[in-house]
Amino acid sequence: MRAFILLFISTTLLFATAYDQGKKLYFEKGCNGCHGFSAGGTNLYPPLAFRRKEFLTYKLKLLRSKQGNTQLSQMMIPFAMALTDTQIDALTTFLSDYHEKSKKSYVPDNSNTGGGSS
Ligand code: HEC
Repeated sequence: MRAFILLFISTTLLFATAYDQGKKLYFEKGCNGCHGFSAGGTNLYPPLAFRRKEFLTYKLKLLRSKQGNTQLSQMMIPFAMALTDTQIDALTTFLSDYHEKSKKSYVPDNSNTGGGSS
């Protein structure tokens, strides 16, 4: 029982840490410059908050390997290339689990379609 509780506490702490690290990275790496302060996307750039971790991870790794299917991908590739696996994990934890206070006008986008068309 005690072991179980300890395990629970440590996983919770680990989770909180990954979230906070992801949040820090989001601003440090300038992701907010294109994807917005609340990760809700701006007209050209896809929203990231509330989207599935698996999807975000898949996309970031694809872009990191310089593969993208739109012209806009070229813009994102250098940013993805600057990320390590650990950073991708932290960022996607933060984005998928997003629970920051946001402005009233903010509407979460739960679509899982790729952003941008050319
Ligand atoms: C210079 C602007 C810019 C910056 C800075 C930027 N991105 Fe992007 N990002 C884009 C564009 C444009 C796309 C769409 C690419 C495409 O259509 O393939 C994109 C796509 C994505 C996607 C895939 C989403 C989807 O719907 O396909 C993820 C995830 C992502 N960015 C995460 C990040 C993270 C994390 C950072 C910070 C490390 C970041 N981006 C910084 C422009 C940017």
